Parts: sequence; C-alpha cells; structure tokens
Amino acid sequence: MSSNDQAKRAAAEAAYEFLIEDDYIGIGTGSTVNHFIDVMAERKPSIRACVSSSEATSAKLKKAGFEIEELNYTGNLPVYFDGADEINTHFEMIKGGGGALTREKIIASVSRRFVCMVDESKRVDILGNFPLPVEVIEMGRSAVARQLVKLGGSPELRPNVRSDNGNPILDVYNLDLSNAIAMEDKINAIPGVVTVGLFARRPADVLIVGSDHGVQTLT
Ligand code: 5RP
Repeated sequence: MSSNDQAKRAAAEAAYEFLIEDDYIGIGTGSTVNHFIDVMAERKPSIRACVSSSEATSAKLKKAGFEIEELNYTGNLPVYFDGADEINTHFEMIKGGGGALTREKIIASVSRRFVCMVDESKRVDILGNFPLPVEVIEMGRSAVARQLVKLGGSPELRPNVRSDNGNPILDVYNLDLSNAIAMEDKINAIPGVVTVGLFARRPADVLIVGSDHGVQTLT
C-alpha cells in the first residue's frame, strides 16, 4: 500500500468510530470511502441499510454483504461518510473528482453529521487548485460553459465520462473560490447546472486527516 493509501486507510479506521449502529448510514464515493467499506467489512457493524452515492459504492457495499436502501425510503440520515478532493479550514470542500457529486450533495444535505475522511494532501487554505466539477444537462453544456468563463473559470469537458445520472461533467480551472459560498450560489443559479461540486453551504462537520504521522480528528 502506498503511503497515501495508508493515510486514507488510517483516516477511514478513525472515521469508523463515528458509525452509529442499527440505523441507516450514508456512504460516499472514492478510494478513501473504499477503505472505509473495507473497514466495515472487517468489523461487521449491525447496520439497517446503507444509502449510497454511486453505483460503484453500491456494488462494493453489496459485495461486502451490506444492504442498500434508496434515500426516498429512509428519511434523514444520522451520519454520512465521504472523502473530498480539497477541504479548507472551514471544512468547505471541492468534491466530484469521482463524478458522484450530485448524489453526494443530496445525501450530505439530509445527514445530521458529515464525516469527511482525507489524507493530508487534500487540506488547503483556499479551495481551487483542484478543478471544480460541475455536472450539467447535456443540451446546456456549452451555455453553462460560457457562463463559467464569465465567472473567470476555464471549463473543460471531462472526456468520455457520464455521471451515474447520465450527465456530462465540466471541470473548471482558475476560478477564484476565496468566497466559496458566493461562488456556489452563483454557479447553482446558472440554468443547465445540475450540481456544482462546491460543498460550502453544507460543509463537513467532522474532518479526519490521515498522514504519515498519525490521524487527526477535527471538529
Ligand atoms: C467523488 C468524490 C470523492 O470524495 C473525491 O473525489 C475524493 O476521492 P478519493 O477518496 O479517491 O481521493 O467527491 O465524487
């Protein structure tokens, strides 16, 4: 395992302490979440069912023997576990590098506690070095891209990718995200945008950072 992977695994192990048994839990998408599912598979918690943010996560959870339930039948969730592409000191995040931003944002919005697990390379002072993912409706793709240019961004269509919802994703470089909430609102207001991968209005509640030196849990 690379040291980066070891850091993700360590963060996932620490995050497990926040799991609430005998209830629904939300599970995100990505390599850090995959470590979290591995930890769950080893420790076998009693879970009512998992609400998953992607087909890939659902497949891995099912293989590990966990039930999946649709969010439409669960109501709000006590806790949601996910990774991030970048996270700042306010626990605002860029997410969607794995393309699951829309379902992730919906699950985060109905979860009482968002536990974010990262390796230390994801921590930043100001968001925006990682290109900001924006899921769009196909027919509005160019129109949205032109509006993103007006906001100062340089959008690029993610090649040969559709989200689990069947939509294209634009990766936007060079945006000024020093006021992440304002930019989230502006991008959300563009017709044709399904979801922007800025999680500023609903940041994480707990941040768990794995590194070579150990794990830090921040609240
Ligand atoms: C997927 C995401 C992931 O949380 C993000 O891309 C981090 O992934 P990883 O854990 O593989 O570094 O937002 O849409």
